[in-house]
Amino acid sequence: MYGRVEAPHSNRRDLQNLRTLSVYLWEYRGRVLLALGCLVLSKLMVVAVPLLLKEIVNTLDEGTSDALVGGVAGSDVLLVSLGLVAAYGLLRLGNSFFKELRDALFARVRYRAMHRLSTRVLSHLHDLSLSYHLERRTGSISKDLSRSTSSLSSIVNLLVFNIVPTIAEFLLVAAILLGGYGWHYTLVVVITVVIYILFTLKFSGWRMQFRHEMNRLDSLANGRAVDSLLNYETVKYFNNENFEQKAYNQYLSDWADAGVKSQTTMSMLNFGQAALVAIGVTIIMMLAANDVANQTITLGDIVLINALMLQLFVPLNLLGVVYRGLQYALADMDLVIKLLELKPEIKDKPGATDLNIKQGHIEFDDVRFAYLSERPILKGISFKVEPGKKVAVVGPSGSGKSTLSRLLFRFYDTDEGAIRIDGMDIRDCTQSSLREVLGVVPQDTVMFNDSIRYNLAYARNDATDEEVKAAAKAANLSEFIDSLPQGYDTVVGERGLKLSGGEKQRMAIARVILKNPTIIVFDEATSSLDTRSEQTILEGLNAAAERATSLVIAHRLSTIVDADEILVLDAGEIVERGTHDELLQNQSLYANLWQLQQHEGAKSNQNSSDDNT
Ligand SMILES: Nc1ncnc2c1ncn2[C@@H]1O[C@H](COP(=O)(O)OP(=O)(O)O)[C@@H](O)[C@H]1O
Ligand SMILES: [Mg+2]
Repeated sequence: MYGRVEAPHSNRRDLQNLRTLSVYLWEYRGRVLLALGCLVLSKLMVVAVPLLLKEIVNTLDEGTSDALVGGVAGSDVLLVSLGLVAAYGLLRLGNSFFKELRDALFARVRYRAMHRLSTRVLSHLHDLSLSYHLERRTGSISKDLSRSTSSLSSIVNLLVFNIVPTIAEFLLVAAILLGGYGWHYTLVVVITVVIYILFTLKFSGWRMQFRHEMNRLDSLANGRAVDSLLNYETVKYFNNENFEQKAYNQYLSDWADAGVKSQTTMSMLNFGQAALVAIGVTIIMMLAANDVANQTITLGDIVLINALMLQLFVPLNLLGVVYRGLQYALADMDLVIKLLELKPEIKDKPGATDLNIKQGHIEFDDVRFAYLSERPILKGISFKVEPGKKVAVVGPSGSGKSTLSRLLFRFYDTDEGAIRIDGMDIRDCTQSSLREVLGVVPQDTVMFNDSIRYNLAYARNDATDEEVKAAAKAANLSEFIDSLPQGYDTVVGERGLKLSGGEKQRMAIARVILKNPTIIVFDEATSSLDTRSEQTILEGLNAAAERATSLVIAHRLSTIVDADEILVLDAGEIVERGTHDELLQNQSLYANLWQLQQHEGAKSNQNSSDDNT
């Protein structure tokens, strides 16, 4: 879905993208101009080398023929030619000096631009909505970042260090030929170069399909392999190693076929290029040999022409590679720029103010919401949570409970109706100030692959070690952490996989205690705990919730008996509401659930006390 670009895109779009890119370079225009100056100087010197070579050959040639005729000034000739040779050496030196200076000057431009672009891409990825990230495939996100730096770097490299210098050199060579030797030389060179370029571009364009095919299969194979490794446990549970291997193998074998085609066409391209160069240079040299025979040009001239030709075709030889590289880089850049052009669905309104939190009054006002328009999830939900009070939501799985929490955090906007905090519509305040006052113990807690200390302190980056430990204690975690050989420095594994569900939930509770927000959402915060652990940490939970307004999505009804109001959600509608006692008297859904859980609870308590004896 989001692999490499498969179809070639328009040149106009490329030009637009280049313009977008140039903004990043233009900031360093002083340096860019200096580097371009160096480029021109070094190219002038490159072209001056054969010119000097011609002089050397001619001086020596005249000198020797004069000497043969018994002429004068043999030592003068030597002196002059020695001087020329020294100049020749200096030119070569100068050429490489300016070339290196150009690269050094340009390095800052290039790396700074890469740095800025990557930073911008990451911050943009953070701004994009949850819905965007849920659709992404694992691994493709990290590609976005590396793609932005590598494509920028390649484009700049190819243009500045390859394409522009080659064009400059070509123009100089054409000018020298036109000025010194007449139009027919120039014509042959121009025709050769034009045919060469057309051939290279057409042929490269045609064989690009094999590269695209290779890239497509490569990313499919990789995606498959990565997916199967990420789901290592699942693969093992279902004994599906062979199934995974077969799929991977199929992709790779197709990839290898495409690779062979790509290589053979590459050889064809190289040979075609070499043939064109050979033909062009041969014609030129025939013209030159003819002119030398007619004595219209000197021996030095033929050396000059030969050297110019060879020099010119060296960079052109790389044209196929350069062209392909540029196409890829442009395609990648196109993806990066498209990504940057994606508008976050959830945006701060222009002029959004900070949420002015007073007490933490929450109001859901006839909220309607659907992830996909054809399947409504919430169908007109209204309730209020008074400051410092506790409202509980219960209901079957899939009834939309966690969705309430996502809407409150404004990961999505409501389709109709409004959510207000202390009277302010959450769409009118900045997202940052909104999330500042909210805390959540999520249904599935995901951790960074770092230490327990780091993961706890993530809730508040400036928390002291004492505060972290106090929070862990309040969440009933200290005993567990102390039992670990590495204590707070224990690394929790990718996404926190080395922790049990209950441990992760207690980590999440400790985080909220540490963050100490005005409003807390508990999303089945104790569902992974056994009844006894639940009882012990309920105290911690209640301590955290004591001053806060809390919205408790509950799995076990015993944890919400004391709620100020209980909402029973079913299929996106509130079907019953009231306090625990009121609902029990109703003798309907809630009462039934309660009966059921009382029964189970009794049984599991029985079991756990059995275990203890
Ligand atoms: N990103 C999503 N895209 C489409 N459907 C979703 C998405 N997230 C949740 N859903 C669906 O919305 C419904 C309610 O989800 P949720 O609020 O998580 O239920 P629960 O009450 O169990 O917490 C579920 O049927 C779920 O499949
Ligand atoms: Mg849920």
